[in-house]
Formats: sequence, structure tokens, C-alpha cells
Amino acid sequence: MKSRQHVPLVWLLLSWAWSPLPLLSASDEEQGASSIIFTTLGRPDYAFDIYSLPIPHTPNSQELQLTDGHSVNFNGQFAPSSPSLLLPTDQPPPLQLVYVTERNNGLHTIFYDALYTQQQTPSSRRSILESQTITKRIQLPLLPNHDQNHNNVSMKDRPTLTGEYLIYVSTHENPSLPRVSWAAVYSTHLKSGNTRRLTPYGVADFSPAVSPSGDFTAVASYGESGWSGEVEDLTTDIYVFLTRDGTQRVKVVEHGGWPTWVDDRTIYFHRRGDDQWWSVFRAILPDGKGSISVDTVRVERVTPPSLHAFTPATSPGNHEFIAVATRRPGSTYRHIELFNLVTSEFTELTRLVSPNSHHLNPFLSPGSTRVGYHKCRGEPNSNESPQLLFENVKSPVPGLSLFRSPGSFPVFSPSGDRIAYVDMPGIYVVNSDGSNLRKVSDLMTFSTAWDPVRPGIIYTALGTGFSSESTHIDIISVNVDKNSNNIKRLTLGGSNNAFPSVSPDGKWIVFRSARSGYKNLYVMDAAEGESNGLRRLTEGPWTDTMCNWSPDGEWIAFASDRHSPGSGSFELYLIHPNGTGLRKLIQSGSLGRTNHPYFSPDGKRIAFTSDFAGISAEPISNPHQYQPYGEIFTIGLDGSGLTRLIHNSYEDGTPAWSAKYLKPVSIERPKGGPYCDFVDLHWLNNMPNGTGSVVSNAQCGL
Ligand SMILES: *[C@@H]1O[C@H](CO)[C@@H](O)[C@H](O)[C@H]1NC(C)=O
Ligand SMILES: *[C@@H]1O[C@H](CO)[C@@H](O)[C@H](O)[C@H]1NC(C)=O
Ligand SMILES: *[C@@H]1O[C@H](CO)[C@@H](O)[C@H](O)[C@H]1NC(C)=O
Repeated sequence: MKSRQHVPLVWLLLSWAWSPLPLLSASDEEQGASSIIFTTLGRPDYAFDIYSLPIPHTPNSQELQLTDGHSVNFNGQFAPSSPSLLLPTDQPPPLQLVYVTERNNGLHTIFYDALYTQQQTPSSRRSILESQTITKRIQLPLLPNHDQNHNNVSMKDRPTLTGEYLIYVSTHENPSLPRVSWAAVYSTHLKSGNTRRLTPYGVADFSPAVSPSGDFTAVASYGESGWSGEVEDLTTDIYVFLTRDGTQRVKVVEHGGWPTWVDDRTIYFHRRGDDQWWSVFRAILPDGKGSISVDTVRVERVTPPSLHAFTPATSPGNHEFIAVATRRPGSTYRHIELFNLVTSEFTELTRLVSPNSHHLNPFLSPGSTRVGYHKCRGEPNSNESPQLLFENVKSPVPGLSLFRSPGSFPVFSPSGDRIAYVDMPGIYVVNSDGSNLRKVSDLMTFSTAWDPVRPGIIYTALGTGFSSESTHIDIISVNVDKNSNNIKRLTLGGSNNAFPSVSPDGKWIVFRSARSGYKNLYVMDAAEGESNGLRRLTEGPWTDTMCNWSPDGEWIAFASDRHSPGSGSFELYLIHPNGTGLRKLIQSGSLGRTNHPYFSPDGKRIAFTSDFAGISAEPISNPHQYQPYGEIFTIGLDGSGLTRLIHNSYEDGTPAWSAKYLKPVSIERPKGGPYCDFVDLHWLNNMPNGTGSVVSNAQCGL
């Protein structure tokens, strides 16, 4: 081992360079290879890159794009410029960036980029703008795909380089408890690859921050109280422990998140204050040893009411200013500003550069000369990744391909050659190779199913989702191969008829209807609708919904709150089409939410959406997500073999499963935008004192 110390780390890392994932073997295809398509709210439009602005900011300074426009890059930190661990020392110190990227099939990986920049003053007399360009980029994956991790698909978040270690969040370990987050903080020694878990088992930690000395790490944690189901203000507590091994863990702040250190005694963090404004606070830990607790830590409010200020960023030793993200009354955009700790004045940065973009999660360079953040890059340049129609996502199950749909409620045609999806308002149909994308209807619809027998017929619900029992919603059929006269109304009564699913012989549709005053399941004639035959399948003062007919015709799976009507908690149930055999498929934990069941092609498993894995990151660090806990799982019909398919901090939902095996590669979207079409958190629109701004949301009703 001794001789290794003389090998520059950069070479060790390069020798670990990203190995391509093994090709699918023939045996994988034989054992029932198949494909699942699902929706991730907002994510197809994020196209995040990391940018930076110089401090102080002058009208002449320009925004520099730090990451390379491939995939989605976010949650960066500058690495300290101290004697470089990773690079040859005979060159001027570059900007060193550590960040999360999803470039490997949507799998989260942590990258390190060293950026050599040059100031350029254009000779054009018209322009007085100075711009900086990147002249050289050295790029390394920091967590190589070790064999033992090969199948452990996980979310990674908030990386920090400290000495020879990388500190980060990962969701690769399953706590095997319903509604307990898989997010935990790990430390990986970069030379050896040895990884140590710093978070105790049974606890979830988010947003780790390492102190300037490297000795301490602060995290936002659920602590012992667990997750309440809350998604706006997580009400995490801040804990501090030794970065070395996670020991001496102590709670320092009750109710706080997103910690960041100025020195080894001073932490800035955010919380929603008693006056309802999100604000930055400061926690000062006592001097001396062994006496740190919530009672000995002094907490002071830093940013004033009248605007939301959150996700603070500090720089070691800088007691003069911090960087924050803000939401100001009258604006729907999230911007980065500096806050002067002496004068209590804000200095706007990003609003002056790109007023109509969201800028997230600022971070400061070690000398406070730069602020970094991420935002959507807009229309891609020629050397950047194109927008995707179907994004392949790395699957933890051999032989199962996973694709992210461009819209909601995607469904496969019986052969798997076509996909229909909803992008409200409008129904789209596209070949599964991405060709022949067309809009087949302008109607506002949601839950959709494809007829297994009649060619080109899909069923959908005309209206908006999440509506009351009395809302007029009807199930219609649409012939996607006809341009006109292609719509037929199948239900007659209005009163919230939705979630159609067809029996494998094409004779019957099971759907939910609120015609009795409660949403229960009914079965009707598929070709002619309820005028030609209607039967009630379930009955009771609760909600039965999101039904799916098994490929062998024997079972209907559905979501219901019958165990606790009106509580918001949904669990999955199975019933025979003749109304016998009712049983619960999965216990989603106290008040858990488990929805959108969909049978596998062999009928042996069910894919579904659930909050079984809790929250994976502080929701305020993302754009709007209704249900950021939504992840996709599968389970056997006997309730065994629960498997998590997707790991991220977004809302994933509405899986559909096809026997057609689609090669795990992404498919480009036709050019022309829209680009960056997403909105900030709806709940940040609530400005205390009634100064709320306008809600705009293009993708409601999932
Ligand atoms: C990866 O997952 C397997 C089984 O799911 C587990 O046994 C193993 O410990 C995991 N690896 C790590 C590094 O957590
Ligand atoms: C507005 O909010 C501030 C605190 O943010 C509070 O002190 C003040 O009384 C409020 N004013 C009104 C009119 O409610
Ligand atoms: C109901 O359907 C199931 C599954 O097809 C069958 O096993 C059962 O015998 C049927 N029961 C009645 C009363 O028809």
C-alpha cells in the first residue's frame, strides 16, 4: 500500500473511471423482461446546470455556466482551494466544483470538475461586457460503481469534499420500515473507496454541512420523532456529530434545516418562523467541551419578515454576508441574493441577470468571491444534451427497463409499440421508438387505459383530477387512429367517473364513480358504455379508486381509504371481478399513502406509487412537487418482495407495465420547447399578511 501514496490521486480516480453498465444478458430477457413507464412531476423540464456570478456583482459581470449541459446537474459546492488533493500542483488553482449529476441513465452520481477559466474582454466596441470562459475542464466521477453497489440504485445529494473524504446523502440502504426515509449521510475515503455510514440506523438525515475545520458535520434530521407526513415545513431538527465517525451526535437546534457553518461554533440555518415567513437564523454553540445541547445553543433570527429567505450559504470566516434564496411578494420566481449581516440589507444578484428563471440552492466560494447556484439552462446549445421525450432511468431489476414519460398517465398499447399520455390539456400518442408523436385530442382528461382488443381505442376521464364527488367527469373512448368523430361518451351520469381499466377480453371496464355519493368501483360494458350494462363492484362510505384489471382477468387491484375513510391514507386492495376475495395487498404504515396499482404482464407483481420511503430531501430545495414522497415500488401478489424502483426527491407516479422489452436508452424530444416550464413551490406563494402572489401551474391534477 505504501507505494500508492506517491501516485497522484487524479490517476487513481481516473483508473476508476466510469465503467459502462453491463449489457443486458440473454437470460435477463428470457426471465420475463418488460418495461415500465411512469411520470416524474416537473422533472422533464428541469435541465439544471450550475452557474456562478462574481462577488461583488457589477453591471459588467456575466454569469458563468460551470457544468457542461449534460443531463441535470445540481446541488453544487466549491471545494476548498487549499493544497489540491485531486490535481497536479504545477498549475494555477482552478475552480473546483463538486455536484450531483444524473447523466448516467438518470442514476444520481457525484462528479468533481476542475475548471480553468480566463477573463475575456471582447474587442467589439459595442460591448463592454466582460465574460469569463472555461478554457479547460477536468472531470471525475467521485463514487465509482463498485461491484458490491452495482444493484444499489440510489439518490445522492449535497456532496462536500473535506480533506480526503467525500460527505454526502445516499438512499442505498433500505431501513425496511414503512414511511421511514432511506436518506442517510455517508463518508467515502476517496483513495480507498471505503464508505462509512454516519447516520444512526432508524434515523433520516438531510442537507449535511461540514464545518471549516472538517471536524464537525451538521444535518437536518427527523430525529427520533419520525416523519409526520408533512411536506411543506419538514420541521427537522439540527444535529451535529463528528465527521470522522458520526459519534458524539447531539441535537443543537429544535426545528431547523439546511445548516451551513461560518466557523466551528456558528451555524446558519432556515426555518419557517412563528410569523410564517421562511427566514434564516443563526445558532451559536457554546465554547468549551461536552456541554452542547439545545439549551446551551443561542439562536438568533437573521433575516427580517416581509420576504421568504431560505437555503442559506456561508463561507468560512465571512461574518459580513451570507447568500440566500428568496421569494419576494409580487414575484413568482426564486432568486439568489446576498444578505449583509452588519447592515441587514439585501443585494439582489440573479434577478438582474435572468429575472424570469428560478435559481436554487446557493453556495459561496471559500474566499467569498463567487456565488454558485443551479437553474434551468433553457434551450440547449449544440454541445449540450437535447431534451428527452422518454428518459431511460437506471433500473435496479435486471431485465426491467424504466422510462420517464413526458406527460402524466402514460399507457402502453397492447403490443407495446405505442404510448399514450396526457399533457394537460391534451392527449398525445407516440410510437415507443419516439417516432410519429402527435396530439390526438385537446380535451382536458386524466387517468387513461388502452383497450387490449379493439385497435387504437383508449379510454380516459374527461375532466380534472382531485375533484369532488359531484364534479361532472365522464369516461370516454378515443380512437387515436381517427382524426374526427373519434370520441364516444361511455358513462351517462357525470358525478366523477374516472380511472377506467379494461378486462383482458375487452368486454368490461372497471372504473370508479361517485354516483352514490361515495367513490366506489363499478363495471360497465366496454364498447357501448353503461347504457349496455352496469354493475356495482364495491360499496361503502369511503373512496375506492385507481383500479387495474389483471392480465389473467382474475383480479382487480385498487386503492382505497376504507380502513380510515377521509384520513388521506390509501392502501392497496385486491378483489375478484365477481366481488369475492377482497383482501389488502400492502400495509403502508400508519396513515401511509399507496396508490396507482398496475399489474405486471405476467400478473405476478404489482407496480404502484407510495410514500413508503418517506421524503428524500428537504422539499424547499426543489421546485414545486405536490407529493415529493411519491416513489415507485413493486410487490408480489402475496405481499412479498417489496422492491423500490425509483430514488429521487421528486413526485414519481402513475406507472404502466408492458410485456414489450424496450432497450434501456433515452429518446430525444423533437426540438422547439417549451423549455424550463416548471413553477416554484406553491406554498411559498403564501405571503403572510395577505401579500400573496399569483399561482400559476400548468401541470395540476396528477
Ligand atoms: C446493496 O443492496 C443489497 C441488497 O439489496 C444489500 O445487501 C447491500 O448491503 C447493499 N449495499 C450497500 C453498500 O449498502
Ligand atoms: C404582518 O406581519 C408582521 C410579522 O411578519 C407582523 O408583525 C404584523 O403585525 C403583520 N401585520 C398585519 C397587518 O397583520
Ligand atoms: C368468483 O371469481 C373467482 C375468481 O375467478 C372464483 O374463484 C370464484 O369461484 C368466483 N365465486 C363465485 C361465487 O362465483
